[in-house]
Amino acid sequence: EVVSWDPEETGKGGYDHYMRKEIETQHVSLANGIKGRVGPDGREPDLDDFPPGAFEGVERVQFVACGTSFHAAKYGTQLLNKAGVAAQAFRASEYDDAIPVDRETLVVAVTQSGETADTLAALDRATKAGARTVAVTNVMGSSAAREADDALFIRAGPEIGVAATKTFSSQVVSLSLLAHRVSADAADESPWDDPAAFYDALERLPDHVERVLGREDAAGVADDYLGSDAFFFIGRGLAYPVAIEGALKFKEITYEHAEGFAAGELKHGPLALVTPRTPVFTVVTGDDDETTVTNAREAQTRGAPIVAVSPPDHTVTDAADAHLPIPDTHPDIAGLLANVQLQLLSYHTADRLGRAIDKPRNLAKSVTVE
Ligand code: G6P
Repeated sequence: EVVSWDPEETGKGGYDHYMRKEIETQHVSLANGIKGRVGPDGREPDLDDFPPGAFEGVERVQFVACGTSFHAAKYGTQLLNKAGVAAQAFRASEYDDAIPVDRETLVVAVTQSGETADTLAALDRATKAGARTVAVTNVMGSSAAREADDALFIRAGPEIGVAATKTFSSQVVSLSLLAHRVSADAADESPWDDPAAFYDALERLPDHVERVLGREDAAGVADDYLGSDAFFFIGRGLAYPVAIEGALKFKEITYEHAEGFAAGELKHGPLALVTPRTPVFTVVTGDDDETTVTNAREAQTRGAPIVAVSPPDHTVTDAADAHLPIPDTHPDIAGLLANVQLQLLSYHTADRLGRAIDKPRNLAKSVTVE
């Protein structure tokens, strides 16, 4: 008997789209990215190429990245700031000669593919200015991995869908480990008062992701708000990168108007756009989030439906019209779980609308022109 099979379909492993497969297998790629990278005491990272002391002398950190990778970079920036290290994230295309960079600056290029032209140009600029450089990438042998002084691989496995999903999650994990190593060396501090609590949450992360993947709320919420005029996403602190990533994913694959805002900025302009036909997805992950609830209520007063993306018993759920729940975990990694809910929301919305989910119009997996 001749068995005919289409390698492309086989690669999807029974899922309708690569993106769905990549979302649904994140617990596996995450486990791979964590394995062997937590020290034996469960309180510090164990990164082969970056032993303790590897970042001594670093005075400040600059991240350069594009798209989804920029959102992961913003997360890394905030962790470093919490540990007292001066860190900034730049969109690579904005990393121009006016930005001061010197030998005490560590420049971290975050790029899934390792081939994004804007990010490579920023890396080149940093190298010429004498900065120390690290590439955080998914692809061994990529241009970024070769051109940076060192590389940290996120170990997410190949990502075929144009919209980045599992690689964002893996970037967040790798950047949290890198941020801890850098801050221990550069500031003699950890981003966490209780590092063991963070590492405990990290060990349980694949299991928590699987729990989110087993839920069906995102498909129902996608149905409920199909046909809205626009989709807004808000968050503050570590939830802010999740809000802007949620909006980017949504616009990329649904072609609907979606925007992410810092929750506190809503009242400084975006509120003018809010109507009963603009759901506001409110991401709360722990830090400072009572103010975010107040911000969400300001939108609700103008008639907007509020969808809470939060742990089950958070006060935001009292105000919310719908809920995308995430398991209780450490607030500094909860955003990753909220993002998985938002990935599912984007996926189901795009699927209902019949979009070309794996290859959205006008977009490329890796943009190799500036
Ligand atoms: C393209 C992709 C995005 C990606 C960005 C950066 O625009 O469509 O999904 O986030 O490039 O890619 P990189 O490979 O540098 O992470």
